Amino acid sequence: MKQQSIQELLSGKNLLQEVTLFGWVKTFRSNRFIALNDGSTLNNIQCVVNFEDFEDQLLKQISTGAALKITGTLVESQGKGQSVEVQVKNVVILGTADPETYPIQPKKHSLEFLREKAHLRIRTNTFSAVMRVRSALSFAIHQYFRQNGFYNVHTPIVTGSDAEGAGEMFRVSTLDAKNPPLTEDGEVDYKEDFFGKETNLTVSGQLEAEAYAMALGKVYTFGPTFRAENSNTSRHLAEFWMIEPEVAFNDLDANMDLSEDFIKNVIKYILEHCQEDLQFLEQRLLDEEKSKPQAERSEMALIEKLKFVSDNNFKRVSYTEAIDILKNCKPNKKKKFQYIIEEWGADLQSEHERYLVEKHFQCPVILFDYPAKIKAFYMRLNEDGKTVRAMDILFPGIGEIVGGSQREERLDVLKQKISELGIDEKELWWYLDLRKFGSAVHSGFGLGFERLVLFATGMGNIRDVIPFPRTPQNAEF
Ligand code: 4AD
Ligand code: MG
Repeated sequence: MKQQSIQELLSGKNLLQEVTLFGWVKTFRSNRFIALNDGSTLNNIQCVVNFEDFEDQLLKQISTGAALKITGTLVESQGKGQSVEVQVKNVVILGTADPETYPIQPKKHSLEFLREKAHLRIRTNTFSAVMRVRSALSFAIHQYFRQNGFYNVHTPIVTGSDAEGAGEMFRVSTLDAKNPPLTEDGEVDYKEDFFGKETNLTVSGQLEAEAYAMALGKVYTFGPTFRAENSNTSRHLAEFWMIEPEVAFNDLDANMDLSEDFIKNVIKYILEHCQEDLQFLEQRLLDEEKSKPQAERSEMALIEKLKFVSDNNFKRVSYTEAIDILKNCKPNKKKKFQYIIEEWGADLQSEHERYLVEKHFQCPVILFDYPAKIKAFYMRLNEDGKTVRAMDILFPGIGEIVGGSQREERLDVLKQKISELGIDEKELWWYLDLRKFGSAVHSGFGLGFERLVLFATGMGNIRDVIPFPRTPQNAEF
């Protein structure tokens, strides 16, 4: 007898056959109805136990969280709410879950409480739905690139480079941190280290992806990235996953086209393939919002919002235009919002981004041509000498979801920039080689995977869309 998933059984094609199923008890009502779930679907299958046929001792062990093997007949259900159910012939208790100590009981638990139980929270409907959507998005991303002629490149996790030049790196070292060997100048002597130089966990696979794009044409990385920024926000993690495509011969316009097409496609994929989970998450959000004042509730329900984003063009606006919009808008004193930006050249704060996306344009916005001073060293300088071909995509409710650019392909300009920033050319010798040998226009971007999952699931905190969040508070697991 083939073991079938609950999702397959619920489709009803094995009606009147004997079936074997495995799963965990969600609820056990009236000593008769077991709601069993195996993770294959949000839905439980009802297993009906004729309690006279079973020992009390066994029935006592059927409680929320217990793992069971059930054999029985799949029949049409008499009850409401499900089309099929299993008439149980045999139950094997594989693992009990003591109701006195098992934390995930059939009642509403707060997300904060569940965050402390990251190893068990996946057993709730909310987290299983989120993680199935996350998995589907990951698949859709690989599928999109595969179908569009990209190669997947695995870029290093341990690296000597600081791709973003922001210095937010976790050091990797085999040296004794308390008593490291020192050079004559009193600096830590990384030559003594396993790697023979100072290394860190990668902040981005971009620089290495550029090397591959300059040979394979269209590539992407999708891997973990690390930022030692001590920001306790609902949008930042110390370890997050990033998707970074890099394309030879693409300019900034082509880069914007790619990013928009890519995001729309992966959202379409989950709209087609994750209906049950999205419906559940939408309802969860509606219930949650009931307690909020009308003004704070979102105007669109989750699925409508996803459809809106996948069917409508993103608005493309230059940084300079965005600053003009922000300068001319009326600050909302009541809410203590100050949208006004004092001067051209300032970095946008999240309240500025939110104003542009949620109030002014009311759709995803691609901002481009930022001041060179607030962006990374590798971005292509524009002819005006003060802006770079950078692009950020801002999403409603999320803020920045993508950061990307056309890369500086001119050796002399890049060298000049590196020296202005005081970066040691020797550190980037291989990166400069790419500009010496067969250099060409190329572009790419990075999409923060968890920010996409946040948007797709309507969850409010980035810690709730990654299995084991790494933040300054959550490193226990
Ligand atoms: O804007 P960022 O820093 O860009 C880069 O790293 C480029 N090298 C990407 C490239 O061009 N290949 O990061 C890209 C995206 C951000 O837009 C955001 O979505 C996400 O990564 N991100 C984070 N997500 C969660 N937690 C953090 N601490 C994040 N920092 C960036
Ligand atoms: Mg950025």
